Amino acid sequence: MSIQTATANGVLTIEIARPDKKNALTIAMYEAMSQALSAALADNAVRAVLITGQPGLFTAGNDLQDFMQRPPTGDDSPTVQFMYALLNFEKPVIAAVTGAAVGIGVTMLLHCDLVYVSEDAQLSMPFVSLGLVPEFGSSVILPRLLGHVKASEALLLGKAFSGADAVKLGIAAAALPAPEVLAHARRVAERFNDLPAAAVRDAKRLMRAGTKDAVLAAMRAEAEVFLQRLSSPEAKEAFEAFFQRRKPNFRQF
Ligand code: COA
Repeated sequence: MSIQTATANGVLTIEIARPDKKNALTIAMYEAMSQALSAALADNAVRAVLITGQPGLFTAGNDLQDFMQRPPTGDDSPTVQFMYALLNFEKPVIAAVTGAAVGIGVTMLLHCDLVYVSEDAQLSMPFVSLGLVPEFGSSVILPRLLGHVKASEALLLGKAFSGADAVKLGIAAAALPAPEVLAHARRVAERFNDLPAAAVRDAKRLMRAGTKDAVLAAMRAEAEVFLQRLSSPEAKEAFEAFFQRRKPNFRQF
């Protein structure tokens, strides 16, 4: 199993644990994460969810083999189901990120409530470099957060940003030395044990309400284009190049 879950002190922790493939997320892993969120919602003793990876590695994003073999074709795909579950999740979600967070690994942070990163974290969204487009609302959330120009660096050029940059850009609440990130995020998550759960829930819903319709509309529009892009010659070239460990040649298109 590549997703480990554990509940302690009112916090359900979802740990992405597939280090041999750099924590790339498979369909089974999205299913496991969705189940964990459902369980956390149903359990009154759980006051917050903490999402983390391995020390020095959050996730290399979606498993590229899965993208080729079992692309997310609609709302019933496990990837889409997980992202909707995260978007609609009523309790606070805290993320602890060290090392690389790629693609959906960054997109999911945009739907978390509190994000803590290591100073040397590397966050990147190389969708375009893979012949794809931003997904799950990032095409509207990122330009709103960063402004169009910085968002273009991240989404068009796929420029990586550090943990310190993620704080400046408003994606993370704080950047800490790597060994301290998980413990800090856990302490923050545990603070929700002493806060009034219903008020937290209502406040979270209200904070998201102003942008939720735009995010949902973007998710639908992105999904349509994303699926077309997945079967494009550009994406095929990018994916083949990744597994053949070579530079893709987009000049041929
Ligand atoms: N999907 C499937 N397999 C992946 C993967 C992914 N997203 N990311 C890494 N892997 C696999 C590699 O194929 C390799 O497998 P192998 O040992 O069987 O050959 C293994 O994980 C180690 O990856 P490697 O690239 O050698 O590690 P690295 O430390 O040099 O680089 C990353 C780490 C995260 C920078 C690099 O793996 C990477 O860029 N991954 C792809 C990220 C990506 O494009 N994600 C999709 C975004 S939409």
